[in-house]
Amino acid sequence: MDKKITLSVIKADVGGFVGHSGVHPELLEKARGIISGSPLVIDYYITHVGDDLNLILTHELGRNNGEIHQLAWDTFVACTEVAKKLKLYGAGQDLLGDAFSGNIKGLGPGVAEIEVVERKSEPVIVLMADKTEPGAWNYPLYKIFADPFNTVGLVIDPSMHGGFNFEVRDLIENKKIIFSAPEDIYDMLVFIGAPGRFAIKRVFHKATGQIAAASSTQRLNLMAGRYVGKDDPICIIRCQSGFPAVGEVLEPFAHPHLVSGWMRGSHHGPLMPVPASRSCPTRFDGPPRVVALGFQLADGKLVGPQDMFDDPAFDRARDLCNQIADYLRTLGPFEPHRLPLDEMEYTTMPLVMEKLKDRFIDLRTAKKKKE
Ligand code: 13P
Ligand code: 13P
Ligand code: MG
Ligand code: MG
Repeated sequence: MDKKITLSVIKADVGGFVGHSGVHPELLEKARGIISGSPLVIDYYITHVGDDLNLILTHELGRNNGEIHQLAWDTFVACTEVAKKLKLYGAGQDLLGDAFSGNIKGLGPGVAEIEVVERKSEPVIVLMADKTEPGAWNYPLYKIFADPFNTVGLVIDPSMHGGFNFEVRDLIENKKIIFSAPEDIYDMLVFIGAPGRFAIKRVFHKATGQIAAASSTQRLNLMAGRYVGKDDPICIIRCQSGFPAVGEVLEPFAHPHLVSGWMRGSHHGPLMPVPASRSCPTRFDGPPRVVALGFQLADGKLVGPQDMFDDPAFDRARDLCNQIADYLRTLGPFEPHRLPLDEMEYTTMPLVMEKLKDRFIDLRTAKKKKE
């Protein structure tokens, strides 16, 4: 049997430097020290996007592997210790559980994993975002795998012409459904157009059933039942030879879309494509960022990365993000810059409501009394 390689991308915010803007170099060093000493991984790349620490790992142990998840968990715990020592902001923010019990899912960190038999050439793109949520991938994944105006391969490449299957998760009711594109796209858009609730978890090549993309769909705030920071998401996408070309994967980010998660996890903002060196969001803690690292897998080795948004061709997308940000900021605390009440990560509404409850006059009973 052909050897299977698993690419696991696991991330957590275990302390910000400074505030929620970045990751301190000592945390990266700590993580590299632990991962490099592990016999489990074939190769690794440790990086950060904004205040999120990302572990990109290859191994032969498959998805949802307890030992790999344990390694990631232990790394985050050790980095939390460093963050506490340096009094970094929100040390241990994303680690909800006190103890690890076999699988990192549900404990706070975000996970995206694909298991593949490497093709003759296996280009992959790892997307990592800060100041947003898992549903932020819905718009680009739809364009990449279902929109022929973005991905001409859907039209002219016989190996893609059959389309892709989308696994969509209902993050509130914890359900999943498979949509087949292009036949089901109108039905699918009813759901994925609401990214706060429905998120594309996986995409499969329809004709072969092969995995094409996988994202993290944890909603930290739902798991914790209280505000514990945004679940800044990650996504892995396979490229070329039956999958979208690298350029087709990156193209949606040339037209920035609005996502939620800016400032206190409570605002909409444009998702700005940036090179890794520009990933620390500082203006009003944003605007939200996305980094795309390209790798060629070679027997599990991560050949790369190539920093895909480090290209002047994305300058205008960044300019547009800044213009959108300027405009949205003029709205201050008003929707739609600020998220609607039920989507905000925290709110003073109950407190203010309680304080003012005697000043509210119920117009229905007031009218009745008059009659
Ligand atoms: P499941 O939630 O379907 O197990 O997927 C998690 C995962 O491993 C990411 O691809
Ligand atoms: P993070 O989710 O990236 O920690 O940001 C939280 C926040 O409130 C920024 O303003
Ligand atoms: Mg943070
Ligand atoms: Mg973050």
